[in-house]
Amino acid sequence: MKISFFSSKSYDRSYFNRFNTSYQLKFYDTDLSLESIDLLSDSQAVCVFVNDQLNADVIKQLAAKNVKIIALRCAGFNNVDLQAAKAHGIAVVRVPAYSPHAVAEHAVALILTLNRKTHKAYNRVREGNFSLERLTGFDLFGKTVGVIGTGKIGEAFAKIMKGFGCRVLAYDLQPHPDLVALGIEYVALDALFTASDIVSLHCPLTPQTNRLINADTLQQMKPNAMLINTSRGGLVDTSAVIKALKTGHLGYFGIDVYEQEADLFFHDLSESIIQDDMLMRLMSFPNVLITSHQGFFTEEALCQIAQVTFQNIRDFEAGQLNPSTTLVQP
Ligand code: NAI
Repeated sequence: MKISFFSSKSYDRSYFNRFNTSYQLKFYDTDLSLESIDLLSDSQAVCVFVNDQLNADVIKQLAAKNVKIIALRCAGFNNVDLQAAKAHGIAVVRVPAYSPHAVAEHAVALILTLNRKTHKAYNRVREGNFSLERLTGFDLFGKTVGVIGTGKIGEAFAKIMKGFGCRVLAYDLQPHPDLVALGIEYVALDALFTASDIVSLHCPLTPQTNRLINADTLQQMKPNAMLINTSRGGLVDTSAVIKALKTGHLGYFGIDVYEQEADLFFHDLSESIIQDDMLMRLMSFPNVLITSHQGFFTEEALCQIAQVTFQNIRDFEAGQLNPSTTLVQP
């Protein structure tokens, strides 16, 4: 079988080639869209990532090209019209858990950097500036951390924060008994917002969670609190965040995802004029830290992504899709 990869980078080529035993792999740098779909020739499988937009029109064209399976090399699937895939008899599979630790640890990295300002200290010291002025942080020990979504990543994150000696509050539609046994307290969403010094988002983007962080919920948060989003950009109303940062109500904002990231993240735009004024405004705040969707980016996760994706395709060929990795069974 031939598999066509869209939005592929050097690391995709490297890891997928390493674990490939039997497939013909075709890598395209471009994202999958109506414009790029003509690149496909006799591929029964397409392999896509977080910012490829698989809407109903794209899926219809994939069906016309005889594509039988969409293999997501990521966990989130808010970018795929699953009903359209079902209607066209195309299977959709994903990698539900490549390394929850990778993303959880990245969320912690954002917290520690924003708090202790190591990014600023690094630059200062390299320039011979050994002053401590304006580098004051706070102890994480004893602080209250609110975790929204305690699935695989939220669980790993909550356990790390417990290890720092934080009080950990959680909100999820399905509370996790093991976490309660570890002393993590499930509370109502407003109680989490009002009590937390740090709020970290680990739920998927769904119609219910779209803009979960908005002017109202930001207002409920403690003055000077920290907000971390490593989940999906659409969970946050960015213009409301900018207002809360300008008034000083929101103390820190750390993100690995951004609602309009599709044309920006994963690309080197260092010589381009960036047109996204909202992102540029965010970058101007001293208490904002942005990374470009690198939470997943560890050696362990990249190996797992390639191995599970190949296994998903082998299962499809054998007519035995694994329910835990299958979103649409044709
Ligand atoms: P998961 O499916 O294991 O956990 C999600 C949790 O959110 C579940 O416990 C679910 O009950 C809960 N949830 C669903 N709707 C909710 C709601 N309305 N309110 C509160 N909780 C709700 O997913 P996992 O693996 O922990 O991933 C979480 C998210 O992290 C993914 O959806 C994806 O958007 C993001 N992600 C980000 C990556 C990055 O590189 N930054 C990489 C991988 C995932």
